[in-house]
Amino acid sequence: MIGLEAIEQMALADDDPDVIIACAGGGSNFAGLAMPYLGRKIKGQSKARVVAVEPAACPSMTKGRFVYDFGDTGHLTPLVKMHTLGSSFVPPGIHAGGLRYHGMAPLVSHVLDLGLAEATTVQQLDAFAAGIQFARAEGIMPAPEANHAVAAAIGEALQAKQEGKQKTILFNLSGHGHFDMQSYIAYQAGKLENYEYPAEEIAMALAGLPSVG
Ligand SMILES: Cc1ncc(COP(=O)(O)O)c(C=O)c1O
Repeated sequence: MIGLEAIEQMALADDDPDVIIACAGGGSNFAGLAMPYLGRKIKGQSKARVVAVEPAACPSMTKGRFVYDFGDTGHLTPLVKMHTLGSSFVPPGIHAGGLRYHGMAPLVSHVLDLGLAEATTVQQLDAFAAGIQFARAEGIMPAPEANHAVAAAIGEALQAKQEGKQKTILFNLSGHGHFDMQSYIAYQAGKLENYEYPAEEIAMALAGLPSVG
């Protein structure tokens, strides 16, 4: 629905996005914005780059494997083919709770696998710095999850500026941060750190993947 609305709103603005960005935890927020545009891309009606953003601390799309896995830690779900860090993956205590899922929606995983969309990571401190910059400019305090999309959008804008190109960047501000002020306080007090999930621990969590014939 978000993507369908965005298409209508971009038409009202007589513009079309060159880049489409959303953060992805389980994938529905990203899919909501991206899927209608991917439909247009498949039909040759859009050339937009579509970017899913995840925390460096929980890199299911960029460092996980595209295999069958359980969607939950209790192993009650059917096996689904998705990008996963393994269901025994223990997410670090970063302040973007909604982006700490070990897997990714199968449809989002599929479009990444087809090369219709790409994935990137943002570090925690960069995400909060972007959120504060956005709040100061727009008067809206984004949720820590949404900060990942804000950081990626700012990155795209700065790159366009450097290249002297004009780019229309559409991103999803997936939620406000009114319930997350404690994390902003921790950030401002210098208590937050960057965290990159270590390759050995990813390998250990992936070693526990279910075996599928
Ligand atoms: C504000 C916000 N944005 C994005 C997400 C991630 O959404 P999804 O799991 O649909 O990828 C969440 C999840 O809790 C969230 O709270």
